[in-house]
Amino acid sequence: MTKRFYITTAIDYVNGQPHLGHAYEKVVTDVIARGRRWMGEEVFFLTGLDEHGQKVQQAALAEGKTPQAYCDELAASWKAFAAKLNLTNNDFVRTTEPRHKAVIQAILSKLHANGQFYKAEYKGFYSAKEETFLTEKDRRPDGTFDPMWGEVTELAEENYYFRLSAHQQWLIDYIEANPDFVYPSYRRNEVLGFLKNNRLEDLCISRPAARLSWGIPLPFDPGYVTYVWFDALSNYISVPAALGDPAAAGPLGLGAPASGQPLQSSLWPADAHVIGKDIVKFHAVYWPIMLKAMGAALPRQILAHGWWQKDGAKMSKSLGNVVDPVAVIDEWGVDAFRYYVVRELDLGPDGNWTDAGFQARYSAELANGLGNLVNRSLSMLKRYRGGVTPPRSDELAEAAAKAAAGVVENLRGHRLQGALEDIWALVNRANQYVDQTAPFKLAKDPAQAARLGEVLYNLAETCRVLAVLLTPFLPDSAARIHRQLGLAAPPKHAGEAGWGVLAEGHVIGEVSPLFPRKDAPAAAPAQSQPGKRS
Ligand code: ME8
Ligand code: MG
Repeated sequence: MTKRFYITTAIDYVNGQPHLGHAYEKVVTDVIARGRRWMGEEVFFLTGLDEHGQKVQQAALAEGKTPQAYCDELAASWKAFAAKLNLTNNDFVRTTEPRHKAVIQAILSKLHANGQFYKAEYKGFYSAKEETFLTEKDRRPDGTFDPMWGEVTELAEENYYFRLSAHQQWLIDYIEANPDFVYPSYRRNEVLGFLKNNRLEDLCISRPAARLSWGIPLPFDPGYVTYVWFDALSNYISVPAALGDPAAAGPLGLGAPASGQPLQSSLWPADAHVIGKDIVKFHAVYWPIMLKAMGAALPRQILAHGWWQKDGAKMSKSLGNVVDPVAVIDEWGVDAFRYYVVRELDLGPDGNWTDAGFQARYSAELANGLGNLVNRSLSMLKRYRGGVTPPRSDELAEAAAKAAAGVVENLRGHRLQGALEDIWALVNRANQYVDQTAPFKLAKDPAQAARLGEVLYNLAETCRVLAVLLTPFLPDSAARIHRQLGLAAPPKHAGEAGWGVLAEGHVIGEVSPLFPRKDAPAAAPAQSQPGKRS
């Protein structure tokens, strides 16, 4: 069985509306997934929703709904959101699905049978909002707990615990031996620092059903449900296991699914888990330990992205400064949104959204950069040559090859921002070429007809190469450029970026603006120019 490139996102909490941070993570993952397909790999891209836990139970209750009905409604809008972002996810997991629950119970049964769990009483301060016990260390100097924890109550309860201490040393050794396991390296160093300087406390994996009923029952004790993080992390393997991937189902003693298509290629282990910086510990510490304990292979890489702020402040509903990706997409188009977030923020550091920054990139890089290049190149080809491709010329071939090589190399290294910089180096070179060669002047001189043909060929072929290179990032725009070039199917593979594909005599299609210029927002009164009196 061949192995597919298997990539996942975090599964979002179903309570609440999708915001910029959720959208960013999903777009980044989609670009990597599309990029791998474009480079010839088979890919499986999984995203989904985290639906259990106290917050959901409470929110449903407040709306007078059952938790399941509440989740079903929201899940529909989150799925629509994935489509709005133009994601190419192969599956969408919900942790309330029977296929997921069955695998969680198999995992729990196996770990329980292997003696990884024990039951004990714990007394402490509990934050229902964050679903976690706090310690004395979490108190502020004045003795209170930060409001971010919500209401904190003292609780004493018996629960099941997962023995982690036995797993600490091999995990340290593993992360040291596999420098790419956590990306970027500064996140890896944080994980190593944490593991080396702290004794891992055992992980509580249950909640009493009397307090929290909205969860997956422990198969060995119906008085408890599974702790949400244990439930949520396992989605990454529950889907492959439910699909019958032997590498996922085998260690859990699960066979092939009774119904459905048999899987043609294997998925597990995941090649990349794309997550935000706040949940690195769950993915780089607890998750590998869970997998090792169940006898499954470890994921190959954890890609931790940074967090977005808006206008330099944390986005929050109470501040009213949450960027709504749907509104941005409705106004500017999905590719403008995808472009901005990937171009603005490299995978790792934090970013800051400003509307002015978004509009500036739209105007300079999309409308006046890429859009203008394609529009004037193809319009001139129509006007001066009736849309018929002139004989091949190679003046921009080298610049195009350089961009293509850069995009492939950067995509392999998850440097998505760098890949867009390579593409725009070609956009800028071609726009400069228009200014230098001045085809509108050449067109006025019949003696320059052959030269005009060369220029028009270089421009049209550069537009074609750009469409190929843009495919993983701005798939709609790539398809539109192709259509305008008279090429029916959208570009598919990196190999199509090779120079010289447009043939002499090929007739291009209809030309229309890719990124319409928007009216500038009402400008401040213009300053009078120096030396001029008004
Ligand atoms: O943590 N900027 O769900 P979640 C960038 N259900 N990314 C952000 C962000 C921001 N401002 N805010 C959130 C959960 N994210 C769990 C995950 S995975 C087995 C379970 C990212 O809805 C965040 O870092 O709170 C996380 O990767 C994702 O959005 C979902 O966050
Ligand atoms: Mg969160």
